Amino acid sequence: MPVLWDPATRELHLRNGLISYVLRVLEDGTLGGAYVGGPLGEGSVAHAAPRFAGFANRLGDAVALEYPTPGIGDFRAPALVIEQPDGSTALKPAYVGHRIVAGKPQLDGLPSTYVEAAAEADTLEVDLRDEPSGVDVALRYTIFGGRAAIARSAVIRNGGERAITIRCAMSASLDLPDSEWELVRLSGSWARERHVVRTRLASGTQGVGSVRGASSHQHNPFLALVRPWATEAQGEALAVSLVYSGNFLAEAEVDQYATTRVRIGIHHDEFAWRLEPGASFQVPEAVVAWSESGLGGISDVLHPLYRERLARGAWRDRPRPVLINNWEATYFDFDEDKLVSIASTSRDLGIELFVLDDGWFGRRDDDTTSLGDWTVDRRKLPNGLDSLARRVEGLGMRFGLWIEPEMVSERSRLFEDHPDWAIGVPGRPRTEHRQQLVLDLGRPEVVDHLERVLSEILSSAPISYVKWDMNRNITEPWWGGLPADRQGEGFHRYIVGVYELYRRLTAAFPEILFESCAGGGGRFDPGLLAFAPQGWTSDDTDAIERLAIQWGTSIPYPLSSMGAHVSAVPNHQIGRVTPIGTRAAVAFFGVFGYELDPTRLDDEERRLIAEQVAFYRTWRETFQRGRFLRLRSPFEGDRNETAWMVVEPDRAAAVVGWYRVLARASTGPSRLRVRGLEPDASYRVSVWPPSDDPVARANELVRRGDDLMRIGLFLDIAPRVPATPGDFGSRVFVLERT
Ligand code: DGJ
Repeated sequence: MPVLWDPATRELHLRNGLISYVLRVLEDGTLGGAYVGGPLGEGSVAHAAPRFAGFANRLGDAVALEYPTPGIGDFRAPALVIEQPDGSTALKPAYVGHRIVAGKPQLDGLPSTYVEAAAEADTLEVDLRDEPSGVDVALRYTIFGGRAAIARSAVIRNGGERAITIRCAMSASLDLPDSEWELVRLSGSWARERHVVRTRLASGTQGVGSVRGASSHQHNPFLALVRPWATEAQGEALAVSLVYSGNFLAEAEVDQYATTRVRIGIHHDEFAWRLEPGASFQVPEAVVAWSESGLGGISDVLHPLYRERLARGAWRDRPRPVLINNWEATYFDFDEDKLVSIASTSRDLGIELFVLDDGWFGRRDDDTTSLGDWTVDRRKLPNGLDSLARRVEGLGMRFGLWIEPEMVSERSRLFEDHPDWAIGVPGRPRTEHRQQLVLDLGRPEVVDHLERVLSEILSSAPISYVKWDMNRNITEPWWGGLPADRQGEGFHRYIVGVYELYRRLTAAFPEILFESCAGGGGRFDPGLLAFAPQGWTSDDTDAIERLAIQWGTSIPYPLSSMGAHVSAVPNHQIGRVTPIGTRAAVAFFGVFGYELDPTRLDDEERRLIAEQVAFYRTWRETFQRGRFLRLRSPFEGDRNETAWMVVEPDRAAAVVGWYRVLARASTGPSRLRVRGLEPDASYRVSVWPPSDDPVARANELVRRGDDLMRIGLFLDIAPRVPATPGDFGSRVFVLERT
C-alpha cells in the first residue's frame, strides 16, 4: 500500500488499487484535498485543482481543503476551530512535513480500527503548524491492504505559551468536486432505529447529529453519498463512519459552486476543550469507504473491516451462542425456580446461553429504584447469582447477566452516598427519564468505583456474557469534577470514561462476551463495537418492523454485530401477530436468540423453535461471517417485500431470506434474483423448513449460479395458486454448491 510523495508537485497519494486519496500542499502552504475515490495510477493530479486567485489569495470557496479552518478566506463549515487567548479564531495551519510508517499506531484513549501486522497497512502522518499561535495539527491517514477504506484521525497540540480552546475538531472533512449525489443517513427513533433516508443533495447544509450524550436512536454516526443512479449493486458511493459513541455531527454542505464538503466528528455544540501549553487532544477516528458497486459495495468494505479489525477479543472470531433473554418473558417478576425452568426448557430446544436481564439487584421490582446498587436481590434470588448460574451451567448452558453501569436511581444507596456523582446542575431541577440519572463517568473516581463493584459481581459467579445497557440520555449537563471554564469538556470526558470502564472490564474478563445495548439500539456505533462485538439492535422485536431496522443497520454494520431475537406474539412493542417462522426467518440474519417464555408455548411451537435453533446452528458460521447482500428493499416500491442473503466467503453455500408483508391475489409468477454466487457452479436449492407447497417444490432443483442470479428463485408460480405463505409470510432458501 504505497504512500507516494512527489516533491515536485508536493502531492501525497495513498493508494492500494481499490481506493486513492490524494493530498496536495497548496501554494500558500495549507493542505488541499486533491482527490478521493476509485484507484488512480501514479502521477500528478495537480491539474485538477482550481487556481488560487482573488480575495485572501484564494479562489473563494472553490479550493478543496483537507482540514479547513475559519477566518482565512474559506467560508464553508470548518474542520478545526480554535479560540486563541485573545478570543480570535483565525487559523492557518500550514504544511511542515510528513512521515510514513508501516502499520497503524493506536489512538490515545479512544477506540479505533487496528492491524495485527505492520504489513496490513501504512500510515501517513502530516504535520501542520499555525505559526502565529503555535498550534500543531498532526493529521493521520491509514490505508489498509485489500480494503477500499482510509482511517483518518488527528491530534491537536498547543505549542503556544497560553491556554487555547478547541471549539470544533472534526475527524474528517472531504471536499468533493461536484454535488451530483444523494445523501443516505440512518435515522429513526426508539424502537425504529436506523431507517434509510435517502435525499438528493441540495444547496446548503444537510446532515445528522446528536447532542444527547450518546450516538442515539435518532441518528447514526454514518453518512453515505451515492450517485442518484446508484443501487445496492452498482454506482459510486462514498461513506464516512465515525468510531465514536458520544455527541456527533455528520453533514454535507453544497456550496455556491456546487462542490460538496462532507464532515464528520464530535458535535461542536456542547463542546469546548481547553488545551494548556504543551497539551494534546486526540480527535476520534473516522473511516472513509469507497465503492463503485453502490451501497452493497460500502457494506463489502465496512463489514469485514469492522468484524475483523474493529471488534476485538476472544469473541471476535468465535461463533456466537444462541441465547434466550428473560426480559420479555418475566420483566421484573421472577425467582430462581422460574428462571431455571425457562433455562431448562430452552436447553431442551438447543439454546446455548441463558441471559438474566434487568431486576436481579437491589430491590428492583420496577424501574423506579436500585440502579447503582449492584448487589443481588436475595428476595428473588435467595441463593445468590452463583447458585443460579451454576444451576444453568448444570443444564449444559452458559449464563449471562444484564447490567446498566452508567446509571443511578435516586432511590438507591449509591445516590444516598454520592449524590454528587449524578450529572445535573446544582440548584436546577433534573429532567426525569425512566426515573434514573446518569453517573458522571468523566470522573475517574466513578470509573474506579464501577470497575470495583462490577468486577466483584462478574467474579462472583460463572458469567459468560454481559449485556451492558444504557437507558437514558444526558440532560442538565454539568460536570461536578470540572471547573467552569472546562464544562465544555464534560460530554467527551463522559464517553472516554465509558470506554475506559469497558477497556478495564473486557481486559479483566477476556472470556466474557459483551453485548452493548442502549434502550435497544440507542448507541449502536463503531465506538462500542471496538469493545462489544455485538449489540442489541432494537427493542422492537416485531418481525416486520425488524426488516427495516436490520436492513438499515446492515449498511455499515456486519450481521455478527446485530442481536436479533424471536419474541412472543402479540408483539410487546406494536401488538402485531406474525408467524413464528417469519420471526425466526428475520432473526436468523443477525446474532440469533429468543426473548420469550418457552414454558408458556405449546408443543408445536416448541418443536418449531427446536427446528429453528438447529437450522441456525447449522448455518451459524455463514450468517455470522458470510457476505451479506441486500436484494429487495423495505424502503422502496410499495414496501411490501424485503429480501436479503448471506453467502459463504468461498461461495459454497448461501441462505436467502424473502419476506412479504401482506399477501396479494393474482400476483402472477414472480422471481427473486440472487447475487454473489459462482456463475458456473451448480447449487442444490432447498426451502427451509421443508414443505410440500407448490412454490417450495418448484424451487427444489439443482441450478447453475448464473441461472439463479439471472433468472432467480420462484416466489409465486402462477396466479391461481393460492398466495402462499399468507400475510407476514416468508421463505428461507438454502443454496448448496454440489
Ligand atoms: C432496555 C433494553 O433494550 C431491554 O432489552 C431491556 O434490557 C430493558 N432495557 C431492561 O430495563
